[in-house]
Amino acid sequence: MEQRSIGDCDGLTFWLAQPEDYDAVMGISDNVHRGYDYLPHRYHSWLTEPNRVVILAKTEGKLVALESGLVVDEGHTVVVEGLRVCPSERGKGVAGIIQRFTDQYIRQLYPTVRVKWLTRGEDPGPEKLAKFTVLDRRAIISLCVKAENFDGFLSDLKVKLDPEPRLMCLDEEEQLRGLLLDSALGSRLQLPGGAMIIDWQPLKPIESNLKALQRHNPTWLVDRLMSPTFLSIHTPPYPIPYNGGAFRFNIDLFGTSQALARLALVSHLERVRDKIQGVVCIFVYMHRSLWKGMFEYCEGMTGVQSVNLYWEQLFLERPL
Ligand SMILES: CC(C)(COP(=O)(O)OP(=O)(O)OC[C@H]1O[C@@H](n2cnc3c(N)ncnc32)[C@H](O)[C@@H]1OP(=O)(O)O)[C@@H](O)C(=O)NCCC(=O)NCCS
Repeated sequence: MEQRSIGDCDGLTFWLAQPEDYDAVMGISDNVHRGYDYLPHRYHSWLTEPNRVVILAKTEGKLVALESGLVVDEGHTVVVEGLRVCPSERGKGVAGIIQRFTDQYIRQLYPTVRVKWLTRGEDPGPEKLAKFTVLDRRAIISLCVKAENFDGFLSDLKVKLDPEPRLMCLDEEEQLRGLLLDSALGSRLQLPGGAMIIDWQPLKPIESNLKALQRHNPTWLVDRLMSPTFLSIHTPPYPIPYNGGAFRFNIDLFGTSQALARLALVSHLERVRDKIQGVVCIFVYMHRSLWKGMFEYCEGMTGVQSVNLYWEQLFLERPL
């Protein structure tokens, strides 16, 4: 059946993304996020994800932009992700047009949505930031390691590890539910804006978001099962276009203990060591107070390349 556009504005027509648009979407994604782009891996699953819309903007049949939104928090919040504009059309306001269209499309489809959340890896500057409330700024450590150096890296980290603390893996669903739905969790872990950010996607740990959280296939570590003061998450490594093809491995740390943050890094890396092949780019997201200690911990390792010295993840909000 022929597809119908869902609207038009300023010379652009808008369409719901289809599986067959994949190549065109990849065609406008060259070097997006410097090759650490998650969209090639997620595109198809986004198209079938409940409460998500993926919108394409075209002109004369040619794809020029993409934006996506996932409605969460029982319909109160939309998390927008994936924004990109075809390189030849950048600087002409297209990003503003597709975002405004997506906002109004989401308002129409989900009239209860009041708030828009997004994360950014680049500070857009004071003028653009003025349109948002900055809910948090998290620090990022990014490291690239070849598979053949991975075990050596892990051993070097282990040597520098404080033997005292322990972390346990949360794999029982009921335990996980109880822990996540504890209303004191946010303040105890200093969750950014009250949310857990998994692989750049902020989600409040509330009942209606549990499925969306679990869709990331996360591995959860905590310092204790009752009232934890530290929690960390990794999602399985996935392929990215970086440098002709690499893997991306994301670890999100919540809590402020330096010793537990170091142990969490080692524990998460250990859990994926059998899956590492080619080159893996490891991204660790954390409370800013942890960055210096974590950077020193990872500094000067043989065969490990630091991608950015200091890097921040901004968590932004604005009314829809
Ligand atoms: C960042 C990018 C989407 C900007 O697109 P663009 O069409 O060239 O942006 P323009 O400066 O012409 O558009 C200006 C409008 O877009 C908004 N905008 C620009 N960059 C933005 C960003 N990173 N996030 C959100 N909005 C952005 C501006 O606020 C402005 O909005 P307004 O019209 O409401 O005032 C584009 O350069 C791109 O695709 N880059 C690679 C992918 C990327 O970095 N995506 C963003 C992070 S997910």
